[in-house]
Amino acid sequence: MSRGNPLFEVELERFRYSGDGDDTLAGIGLSLEAGSLTVIVGDSGSGKSTLGAVLCGMLPRHDGEELEAVFEIQGQTIRHGTGKSVRIDPVGWARHVGMLPQDARHYLSGVRETVAEELAVGLENAGVPRAQMHARITALAHRLGLGELLDRDPETLSGGQERLVALAALTLDGAPVLILDEPLAGLDAAASARVAALLQQLRAEGTALVLLTRAVDGSVDGADHMLRLRAGRCESVPGEQISIPRNEVSAPDRRHSPGTAALLEFSAAELGYPGSAASAVTGLDLLVHAGECVGLAGPNGSGKSTVLKTAAGLLNLRAGVLRQGTKRGAGVGLLLQNPADQLFERTVHREVAFGLPRSTAVKIPEVLESLGLAGTGETHPYELPAAARRLVALATVLIRRPALLLLDEPTEALDAGGLEVLRAVIGKVLDRGGAVLIASHDEGFLIGVAGRIHRMQPVAQAAR
Ligand SMILES: Nc1ncnc2c1ncn2[C@@H]1O[C@H](COP(=O)(O)OP(=O)(O)OP(=O)(O)O)[C@@H](O)[C@H]1O
Ligand SMILES: [Mg+2]
Repeated sequence: MSRGNPLFEVELERFRYSGDGDDTLAGIGLSLEAGSLTVIVGDSGSGKSTLGAVLCGMLPRHDGEELEAVFEIQGQTIRHGTGKSVRIDPVGWARHVGMLPQDARHYLSGVRETVAEELAVGLENAGVPRAQMHARITALAHRLGLGELLDRDPETLSGGQERLVALAALTLDGAPVLILDEPLAGLDAAASARVAALLQQLRAEGTALVLLTRAVDGSVDGADHMLRLRAGRCESVPGEQISIPRNEVSAPDRRHSPGTAALLEFSAAELGYPGSAASAVTGLDLLVHAGECVGLAGPNGSGKSTVLKTAAGLLNLRAGVLRQGTKRGAGVGLLLQNPADQLFERTVHREVAFGLPRSTAVKIPEVLESLGLAGTGETHPYELPAAARRLVALATVLIRRPALLLLDEPTEALDAGGLEVLRAVIGKVLDRGGAVLIASHDEGFLIGVAGRIHRMQPVAQAAR
């Protein structure tokens, strides 16, 4: 299978999770040369993240997981086969194959107090001298537009900022093979362009990239190999045959006309976080009527999530006015940007049932079914693909029939089927006279579902 002199070759016969009746991956061959770009396109649940985890040595992790594969890396041959499970040291493996996970936060150590210190973790471990380390961190942070954030606590970043910091950390760790799971998800146009330029430079310097994605976009220009993953099986596809544009614009749904009752109103509002001197949002005027779907757009860090969290009662208003048609906090449901922040139970059913009176809990199967989650009740939320996991988080919100539904980047990780489900959910809330406010970078989706779009202005990045 080799052509040229590959950095990393994989012949993956099959991978099966413990207790599964079927292989999650089968018959996948990859040969990654220095500077190459391999794009693997697949819908939610097609096995992309499992493949990423196998490639970066994170799977198999538990007894009972079966991997039959041969890896050739750095002149070494590693054979996994039935009956003999090879234990890979994930830390050592990460020096050869690095991965940006779909939930980018997982790449960060979570124990450092500033972004600069977080970015130093890998360089410190590699014994890079302090002055050189500082110069490399600063240069890369500026390239990615993170210069102002170096002194910030990594726990206080917006979703997009978090992904950029994780990508910077991965780049500094310097593995010659990088697996990137949806590296542009949740990034604004400027950040996407910066990341695309960085990836081109890494390739020029000899890094082999594997991009795992649902949809093809600008970041895959000049791909050497395109593969499509379907139910864990790979097909090679000529580039021109994969044309699933991101931000597909759907026909606007204008059935709903706003009523007169305001369900949410911010006026000259100033929003911020406890412990941060500077405000995250200032001068916010935003009105959402019953029966109306409003989009919330704007660059990374402009305050979209902050607006939704304040509307949901998770943050206090600093100044100005916030009026709600429903009682504060009641009748309002928020789907958080990162579903991991919202899921903590060990089965889907327990998750949705959490804190519910019995009279409402009987509706759980119906809600799960309406979200395409029928039959997942006894599954652990983390065993579901990312799209389904987001829909489980949505189920925990919808079961309470909120009058005002707040959705933070709800389209992230959803494929066409998931987007259809989401549109139906929004339609139902509007049909019953509720309102929906959606923060999203997915302009195509917003144009399709929202009656209007409120654009947030970037706030000067002061130290918070
Ligand atoms: N817990 C926090 N403490 C302090 N500052 C925070 C916290 N969370 C977010 N911020 C900051 O508030 C500002 C607005 O962040 P927010 O998450 O609302 O942006 P966003 O528009 O949702 O961005 P993204 O598109 O990346 O999701 C950013 O500068 C962010 O770094
Ligand atoms: Mg956000």
